[in-house]
Amino acid sequence: MSKHLFPEDFLWGAATAAYQIEGSPDADGKGESIWDRFSHTPGKIMNDENGDLASDHYRRYRQDVDMMADLGLNAYRFSISWPRIFPEGGGRANKKGLDFYRRLLEQLHSHNIKPAVTLYHWDLPQALQDKGGWNNRDTVNYFAEYAAFMYENLDLPVDRWITLNEPWVAAFLGHTMSLHAPGLNDFSLSLQVAHNLLLGHGWAVKMFREAKRDDEPIGIALNLTSIQPFSDKEADLSAAWRTDGFMNRWFLDPIFKGSYPKDMVEIYDQSFKLPRIEDGDHEIIAGPIDFLGINNYTRYLVQAGRSEGNFTGNFVNPSESEYTEMGWEVYPQGIYQLLTRVNNDYGNLPLYITENGAAFPDYLNKDGTVDDPRRINYLQSYLLEAWKAIQDGVPLKGYYVWTLMDNFEWSFGYSKRFGLIYVDYSTQKRYYKNSAFWYQKVIDRNGLEI
Ligand code: FCB
Repeated sequence: MSKHLFPEDFLWGAATAAYQIEGSPDADGKGESIWDRFSHTPGKIMNDENGDLASDHYRRYRQDVDMMADLGLNAYRFSISWPRIFPEGGGRANKKGLDFYRRLLEQLHSHNIKPAVTLYHWDLPQALQDKGGWNNRDTVNYFAEYAAFMYENLDLPVDRWITLNEPWVAAFLGHTMSLHAPGLNDFSLSLQVAHNLLLGHGWAVKMFREAKRDDEPIGIALNLTSIQPFSDKEADLSAAWRTDGFMNRWFLDPIFKGSYPKDMVEIYDQSFKLPRIEDGDHEIIAGPIDFLGINNYTRYLVQAGRSEGNFTGNFVNPSESEYTEMGWEVYPQGIYQLLTRVNNDYGNLPLYITENGAAFPDYLNKDGTVDDPRRINYLQSYLLEAWKAIQDGVPLKGYYVWTLMDNFEWSFGYSKRFGLIYVDYSTQKRYYKNSAFWYQKVIDRNGLEI
């Protein structure tokens, strides 16, 4: 048996997102979001499911926080639904929407669970999409105003603020691959959307500094992936580097270095329209942040493509590897590589794993138990690599499992269960999976015993 202890003040959390768990799509004056619209559009979501009920967290949050406390979590990451606060995107604020998050914070504080608040996890008010969404620069201003409103009015302690969740996904799955809301299909548009999202992030940070919530840190959660070449042939090496440019550097560089990566600008310029960037944008985007949140699930192994214009190359799935139900390769070493790489290339700032977890087919036994050994193995193997990164000097300060409880997994509907807690959607009853009990022990010991 070997022990792997984490730093004493390490945060052990779980993460969720508003649209995936809350349900109650028009309770207390909430406005429509692009995910309400998208999920109600036939053919967009597996089995035409939607988030109307989800995990019914809007009504059951007290019980959910009690369950977090039971598990011993000392941190919880959730997102705020922008259209609950501003049903039309801007203008009139909806006090009842704000009250829900105040009650949630109170409940968390009463159990000493530190809240990490994400301002934007993809549920843009539909009213703003009707005016062009993130392609319209006005949305950046609306986002900054919404952020400032939250700093001013969410008047309970927040342990950390996260401006955006995974702008890469919002930009490319939402505006090139049509898999996410708003369901568009134009790479050049995605580049503009990505730029405006980054600018929104920058403005939200700038407004935060003016709001003087001095001891509260602010950062962003990026989906980052360790990208590896299939071989050391020149063509594979450069395809992997370009994929890294597309997925990682296009977001890390502007935030930490104040510009887009030159190689990618040249590549995009050959086939697409580059984003419109105004004077001063890069300074705003690169405004200092206090920590970086990393969402990581898998790695990509990249082989050069044969076709012209396929700048990322092809993703290879080694046959000897294990895959989750999402089809994602289980590759724990990737998180070590990522953490050390980000720390080396982008400065020594506090890092948090703001999402990591796995979907597997889970079954509720008659006696109310759920045996999910593969999830336990997955989480344990990733945590061990995170532990190694800490031993090697990476300032990793916390870890949030994706996710607290089964929920609406975007275009996959309810078919993918990532939770530590099993949700029976026909009754909304919750059951701890064995992975939840395992995590409880990890937290209790502040580390792994393997
Ligand atoms: C991430 C999302 C999160 C969840 C997990 C599985 O990309 O941020 O909402 O869907 O993937």
